[in-house]
Amino acid sequence: MELHGKRILLIIAGGIAAYKSLDLIRRLRERGASVRPVMSRAAQEFITPLAVGALSASHVYTDLFSREDEQDVGHIRLARECDLVIVAPATADLMAKMAHGLADDLASAVLLATDRPVLVAPAMNPVMWNAAPTRRNSAVLKADGIHFIGPMKGEMAESGEAGTGRMAEPLEIVAAAVTLLSSQDKPLAGKRAIVTSGPTHEPIDPVRYIANRSSGKQGHAIAAALAKLGAEVTLISGPVTIADPAGVKTLHVETAQEMLSAVLSALPADIAVMVAAVADWRVTASAGQKIKKQPGEPPAPLLLAENPDILKTLGHHAQRPAFVVGFAAETQDIEANGRRKLDAKGADIIIANDVSPATGIMGGDRNRVTLIAKDGIAQWPDLGKDEVAMRLAETIAARFTSV
Ligand code: C5P
Repeated sequence: MELHGKRILLIIAGGIAAYKSLDLIRRLRERGASVRPVMSRAAQEFITPLAVGALSASHVYTDLFSREDEQDVGHIRLARECDLVIVAPATADLMAKMAHGLADDLASAVLLATDRPVLVAPAMNPVMWNAAPTRRNSAVLKADGIHFIGPMKGEMAESGEAGTGRMAEPLEIVAAAVTLLSSQDKPLAGKRAIVTSGPTHEPIDPVRYIANRSSGKQGHAIAAALAKLGAEVTLISGPVTIADPAGVKTLHVETAQEMLSAVLSALPADIAVMVAAVADWRVTASAGQKIKKQPGEPPAPLLLAENPDILKTLGHHAQRPAFVVGFAAETQDIEANGRRKLDAKGADIIIANDVSPATGIMGGDRNRVTLIAKDGIAQWPDLGKDEVAMRLAETIAARFTSV
């Protein structure tokens, strides 16, 4: 059921290939989609609304000014209450209207009003398909982000003429719809992401270590959200008590130095989200044996050395991922410190959050973050860490699709 739960708005324009749209409705529904049909006036010359309504088990929408249709849903809702618009057959005339933004009937008004992906299956005489206006209109529609399936080469139904213009077969249209919808669900398909999460433990001796209160909840949720949007994710986690997220390759490390080398070996990547609360310092020479207390003597001082800054290393690396996100856990001057960090670390976004103990953020399930990018700042409301993760993954996906 590759189209389970998907809502398809099927626009049937006037051409002899409309007879294949009846089969297309069946094929879409067989795969679990629901189909809402819109028919142009000309389409009704070729097939009847009765047949379309019976096969789709839906009301058939035909008229921009029908009081019944408009009261029922209206063209704006028709245009939006779907996951995909399919135009099959798409005639030269309807393509011309789409390319120019005309909206003088229900089909063209819906196409102008929709913000959903649109898949067109053109069907027309080969001479019409090759005519200069149709060539121009196809180019405009493709540049506008409209998806095409066909037309195919073959014999025309009405004239027997051969050439390119035959509508794609229903199963070919279904396959294109499945591919298109899955790429919409998975905008980060084909992208590789590295996420760090959790604290690091810096050993003092074999039994003692320096740590912090990071739980790994936010980093793990971000790894899961990126994977949900289709990215291939390597999560490099410090010691945490939460489970490895599903669908993610998780590597476990202890120290900042181990985390850095795991991150570098996971390169190349397109996305890096450094969420880990990496210890700033490690013990210069951690003891090979448990350090004994000596009665009557003061404790030996702990000598600390600075840890490598993983985010900064990545942000300035020759193989720098195209999109780098850092976190700034602050207890004061959140915005100013976040901005400074953006530059210093070579990041595209810094997610600043207030980790003062009163907020309960560190270790808790909720987060209130400020997103600081070069081109602006956004304050997100108090959200679950899973919601912050999904919003961030969507923000990253939007950056990739807009370039
Ligand atoms: O400088 P600060 O620790 O506040 O920076 C926080 C950001 O830098 C986080 O994204 C954190 O994961 C990252 N970081 C790092 N390596 C360090 C210190 C911080 O990757 N050694």
